[in-house]
Amino acid sequence: MAEGLLAARGGAVADTTRAALLEVDDVVVTFGGVRALDGVSLAFGARGITGIVGPNGAGKSTLFDVLAGARTPQAGRVRWDGRDVTRAPLHRRAHEGLARSFQIARELDSLTVMENLLLASPGHPGDALWRVLFTPGKVRDAEAALRERAWALLTRVRLAPLADRLAGELSGGQKKLLELARALMLSPRLVLLDEPAAGVAPGLVEVLAEFILGLKAEGTAFVVVEHNMDFVASLCDRVCVLADGALLTTGTFDEVTADERVMRAYLGQVA
Ligand SMILES: Nc1ncnc2c1ncn2[C@@H]1O[C@H](COP(=O)(O)OP(=O)(O)O)[C@@H](O)[C@H]1O
Ligand SMILES: [Mg+2]
Repeated sequence: MAEGLLAARGGAVADTTRAALLEVDDVVVTFGGVRALDGVSLAFGARGITGIVGPNGAGKSTLFDVLAGARTPQAGRVRWDGRDVTRAPLHRRAHEGLARSFQIARELDSLTVMENLLLASPGHPGDALWRVLFTPGKVRDAEAALRERAWALLTRVRLAPLADRLAGELSGGQKKLLELARALMLSPRLVLLDEPAAGVAPGLVEVLAEFILGLKAEGTAFVVVEHNMDFVASLCDRVCVLADGALLTTGTFDEVTADERVMRAYLGQVA
């Protein structure tokens, strides 16, 4: 069970069995006078589900952006698979197996559910004219493979019956499932999820959790920022707690929720 999927640098949990897939090292992000991230170091392994929690303003979204490549930190390093990607943009990281689930962009509402998935694959083989001209058979094969993958993913998130409907007609929860399925089209090694359960009806949260656990079993790693503590408790192998831009602690859900410093951090928010 202990897969060492998250190791706090200098902490007790060190992953000695395999190198980290995604790492931040002493990352600092400031907004004016606010230190949103004040020297955070974390490592995420190639397996399992890591939850990132913490009170409002702790720096979760900022860390998420730094991991995804949507924000360059003022100081510190980000490494992917051992290489420095601190300045590598989002799309380059996506090509290398780091996926991030977005809210469905508005313009994609006017495409069907299936089209949304097919569009998720960059370098769509049909786009390259020379390939169409010289290897039409291969293009057809590639398109068929994409469709097959899209269909399999839609089936798993129970959206296959809606494949031909416009994405704009889906419920908020269904859009989240579509968004996740889209992120999976590229067969990522690690998926960053920003509040996947927020605004999702309880029945669909179960579908979502089942989907994520299935992918985990197949070897996909996840880093999840989430407020829904039931969701975090049932899904995450490890939880890391941010407060005031710093890593407060990491451990299992039970360990971190029993930690007085964590309770104090959350109470500080209520007070
Ligand atoms: N774009 C921004 N401009 C100015 N301040 C920001 C910006 N984004 C985040 N902050 C500030 O940085 C801190 C951390 O924010 P954030 O990462 O959104 O925390 P969380 O997601 O944990 O609620 C907060 O004090 C927030 O107000
Ligand atoms: Mg946030």
